[in-house]
Amino acid sequence: MTSVDIRQQFLDFFKNKQHQIVPSAPIVIKNDPTLLFTNAGMNQFKDLFLGNGKPVHNRIADTQKCLRVSGKHNDLEEVGVDTYHHTMFEMLGNWSFGDYFKVEAIAWSWELLTEVYKLDKDRLYVTIFEGDEKEGLPKDTEAFDEWKKVISEDRILLGNKKDNFWEMGDTGPCGPCTEIHVDCRPDAERKLVEGKTLVNNDHPQVIEIWNNVFMQFNRLKDGSLQPLPAQHVDTGMGFERLVRVIQQKTSNYDTDVFTGTIAVIEKITGKQYDFSDTKQAIAFRVLADHIRAIAFTIADGQLPSNTGAGYVIRRILRRAVRYYYSYLGYNQPLLFQLMPILAKQFENVFPELNSQLDFVSKVVKEEEEGFLRTIEKGLDKFYRYFSTINKHIISNIPSKSELFSIEIPTTGILTKENYPEIFNQLVNLGNTEEFINQKISTAKKIYLIKGEMAFELYDTYGFPLDLTLLIARENGISVDEVGFEIALQQQKSRSRAAAVVDTEDWINLQENSVSKFIGYNNLDGVTSVVKYRKVKAKGKEGYQIVLAETPFYAESGGQVGDKGTLNFDGEHIIVNDTKKENNLTIHFTEVLPENIEGTVVAKVYTHLREATSIHHSATHLLHAALRQVLGTHVAQKGSLVNEEQLRFDFSHFAKVTDEEIAEIESIVNEKIRENVPVIINEMNKEDALKLGAMALFGEKYGDVVRVVVMDKNYSVELCGGTHVGYTGQLGFFKIKHETAVAAGVRRIEAVSGSVAEALAKEESNTLSSLRSTLKNPKDIVKALENLFTENSELRKKIEGFEAKQLNITRKELLQKVETINGIQFIGTQIEVSNGDALKKLCIDLKADIKDFVVVLTANVEGKAFVAIAIDETINASKGLDAQKIIKEQVAPLIKGGGGGQKLLATAGGQDASNLGLVVEKVKNILTFDFQ
Ligand code: SER
Repeated sequence: MTSVDIRQQFLDFFKNKQHQIVPSAPIVIKNDPTLLFTNAGMNQFKDLFLGNGKPVHNRIADTQKCLRVSGKHNDLEEVGVDTYHHTMFEMLGNWSFGDYFKVEAIAWSWELLTEVYKLDKDRLYVTIFEGDEKEGLPKDTEAFDEWKKVISEDRILLGNKKDNFWEMGDTGPCGPCTEIHVDCRPDAERKLVEGKTLVNNDHPQVIEIWNNVFMQFNRLKDGSLQPLPAQHVDTGMGFERLVRVIQQKTSNYDTDVFTGTIAVIEKITGKQYDFSDTKQAIAFRVLADHIRAIAFTIADGQLPSNTGAGYVIRRILRRAVRYYYSYLGYNQPLLFQLMPILAKQFENVFPELNSQLDFVSKVVKEEEEGFLRTIEKGLDKFYRYFSTINKHIISNIPSKSELFSIEIPTTGILTKENYPEIFNQLVNLGNTEEFINQKISTAKKIYLIKGEMAFELYDTYGFPLDLTLLIARENGISVDEVGFEIALQQQKSRSRAAAVVDTEDWINLQENSVSKFIGYNNLDGVTSVVKYRKVKAKGKEGYQIVLAETPFYAESGGQVGDKGTLNFDGEHIIVNDTKKENNLTIHFTEVLPENIEGTVVAKVYTHLREATSIHHSATHLLHAALRQVLGTHVAQKGSLVNEEQLRFDFSHFAKVTDEEIAEIESIVNEKIRENVPVIINEMNKEDALKLGAMALFGEKYGDVVRVVVMDKNYSVELCGGTHVGYTGQLGFFKIKHETAVAAGVRRIEAVSGSVAEALAKEESNTLSSLRSTLKNPKDIVKALENLFTENSELRKKIEGFEAKQLNITRKELLQKVETINGIQFIGTQIEVSNGDALKKLCIDLKADIKDFVVVLTANVEGKAFVAIAIDETINASKGLDAQKIIKEQVAPLIKGGGGGQKLLATAGGQDASNLGLVVEKVKNILTFDFQ
């Protein structure tokens, strides 16, 4: 059975049991501050368990893209080292929302595994929750009784809270669970050691494949368990493990989920994969695994970056790069070359990858290139640091002599063979060879790569500790691993402290916790508080309030949250932001009213909302115009809409030209003048897609989507944002900037409505004042061009005059030559228009005199300039060095700095009052030092 068949059979099985089959939710999570990525199939249904919404179907099944690399469920360090943990994996799941419970869930999982997939019953074990006294939770006897019907009692094992009580995170829905484990060991081994002793013991061949959770509680912040309004089933089966068991392989990587990718890596690197735990084999597994996480998250709209979810992706990508760089000896971008095979493999399950193949490949390639460059820089850093370690080794050898002045080697260990010269110097300084060797060997042990350095390489240059260890070993030294661990922990606790948002439990004032948004049509409303809580973030206290009904738009789809007021019987509280948390609209305030229990009048600041809506509608018009002008590959990659402007990020591979910008602006303004009605309809996602709506990220199953149409042949988009009634309300549209944000992603910032008018006014004012400065010419551009031409002609003339003048000055200078101790000396202050002229004169004078020292100074508009030229023979015979004189004698006198070569050096400074002294100083050197 291929992996494709296995997945399909799961879905078909539950379809036959009246389950609605739904697509995977995006792997990147929006609107849930507790999670960055989907880490379990149930995430998208969290609200349904908590009672914050009603399910459309009460039985659902799917395959969900999951990622467990941060937070409570984090398997990253295991991945590749073992053969059955993954970053991205598929979780096959079936759900009941207040419908069937333990009886059916258990019976069906047994039926599917043993009758459809025909797994050997002899190899299966199940675990059930043994209860927990401290939590006041009983043993799960119902699950036990159900299992007894199909499996012998000695195969039903009791599990503790850690293994058999599933929790989504520190808070949230949870409940007892029953797991199904498979013993894949050969018969001979099974005879020797009983399978049940290996369950939940990290044995690579005795593994869990399916978890059936019976959701009954909500874990609150204070640690207590609150019963849920209804009981639900949440199951999750690891698809890659299931395939491995059915295909009878000893490793997930030997199944057809991964073998295609591994074969491509073999072809690219010329290395061979084997089932072992050598670094090379681990590297193969890491690459085959990580490319999936990277590709699917980018396809779901998360670009690698330096913060949050984007940073997690960047770290995964870098982990993969380090593995191929260090252990497959490959130092070019590799991961992006795996994209085509992956896109093809998932073409029918997760088509979003194939449809964005070019884009995702480009982003991955550019990230790889960037990081490979960083690795080179890190190596450079390493070797520079390494040279200082050698310095320590040398200075650690006690001796009467000055060892510090010895030239330091940059790489390699100080041995007689490596550095005979240094070694001999040490011997010449009176050390015996034996003594030096003994000192070096002890010093080597003391001087290893310091923990902080290993950490800097890790943190700034992305070197994992094992890469630093590898390079250190190659250079014959070791690394202070404990010091590294300490530095790492210190950083972790620093970032934890910075990120802490302390949220107290909700205080419920009403049973019903669903908050209704009425703000599409109303900007105010009379309502009441459903619940509220206190929060503390970055040391500041505040409150979050949920209303039964609210006109406040919660930040989403790039549109900022509304601001406004809540009036509690005459007491006005300011709402300074509104955000979504799952299905709840949360109003952020700094204070609470004295009486929170009465009615409240909620009022949005209308001028802000209107300006924001104008920018949102303008974004849709822009999006459609971009697709018309640049092509249909243009897809939204991010957007920010507020009262001041709109920012729209989209996939496109070249700079948008000025002509294209002009055309885009014209199309949008044309649509504004057409005054098209903005028609908005609610429907389910599938119907909307049929209408040709452009799908964005973040919608999940069951969401009723809004379809926003501005001329059905021009712009049809899925969008939850607020909009104007007619495009004419936008008035005018103007693009401010076009820039690059990431590989293959461009950004446009634009304005519309009164903001655009203000911008136009500002530009026109600038133009008016320019025109009047230019004395109101007929053609302002021509007038400016004339000015520039005139200016450059004048400059040329001046340069001609200056050259003539310099020639005269040169001749005058030659009259002033003095002979001091056999040196032809010229030293004087002259009149020039810039400092460069001094240097030029010095160079010109060379042709006229011999054995010279020339010091020229000038005061140009209060600033001091000095040039010193010294003839080669004088430099050689007297050791006079222009650069040295400039730096040591001249620069301090003129309060400035300078530099150059030993034969010609210049300086500039703030203080021109001492220029006479400068000449005197040099003259004195010639007069007295060489008598
Ligand atoms: N939520 C459970 C898990 O992730 C079962 O789906 O294991």
